[in-house]
Amino acid sequence: MIHIKTKKEIDLIRESCKIVAETLVLLKNNVRSGITTRELDQIAEDYILSNNAIPAFKGYSQGGNAIDYPGSICTSIDEQVVHGIPGGRVLKEGEIISLDVGVKKNGYYGDAALSVAVGKISDEKKKLMEVTERSLYIGIDQAIENNRVHDISAAVQEYVESNGFSVVRDLCGHGVGKYLHEDPSVPNYGQAGTGPKLKNGMTIAIEPMVNMGRYEVRTLFDGWTVVAADGLPSAHFEHSIVISNGHPEILTVC
Ligand code: MF3
Ligand code: CO
Repeated sequence: MIHIKTKKEIDLIRESCKIVAETLVLLKNNVRSGITTRELDQIAEDYILSNNAIPAFKGYSQGGNAIDYPGSICTSIDEQVVHGIPGGRVLKEGEIISLDVGVKKNGYYGDAALSVAVGKISDEKKKLMEVTERSLYIGIDQAIENNRVHDISAAVQEYVESNGFSVVRDLCGHGVGKYLHEDPSVPNYGQAGTGPKLKNGMTIAIEPMVNMGRYEVRTLFDGWTVVAADGLPSAHFEHSIVISNGHPEILTVC
């Protein structure tokens, strides 16, 4: 069921989203060769807690056999698509890293992600990041009252594929609010004019995951890290938005 938020709920989601955005800026400023993903995780956790908020991903359970998610953020490098677990890995020049942050405050969630270059990167990785970020905004532009969810999906897919890349299909964007993951599911591929109708008061996280090669992914034995099956790089950008007065407002901004 899709929950339409009240003005009061939207304000609480906005507050969580602001902390998400600030955390991402802080992380981005700390990305450099030589830093470990665990250090980035600690920086994010400290900042979130100092804002009287909770890192939303820590302890998250996806059911099944996987351990509960151990990090405060997700750090996914190169061929890692999403849900990379922070640890002792040291960032190296030429890598790209997706930083994904979720915050819960006053019972409401915010969720966003961005990909960052470590030092100088190849032109093809640069293009991958640019196309992925642009596809997010092209998707957001479709989040208009009385459009349908797959208008977002189709716009993302069309733009990404016309640039020679592919959209991951096994993972989707989602509603966000009282829960980190709510209805509707927001795929990054699909047919325009289909799916649930978008209404004022809906809050959704749009998050294109774009592979340089083929769209297939698999999950590593840690139970979390999703990687491109062909081992080629992947990028990821995400914003939480609200539809108000018929139009999208990005909430995960500072
Ligand atoms: N932004 C991701 C998502 O919406 C992060 C989830 S990580 C998890 O699915 F650990 F919480 F699962
Ligand atoms: Co998300």
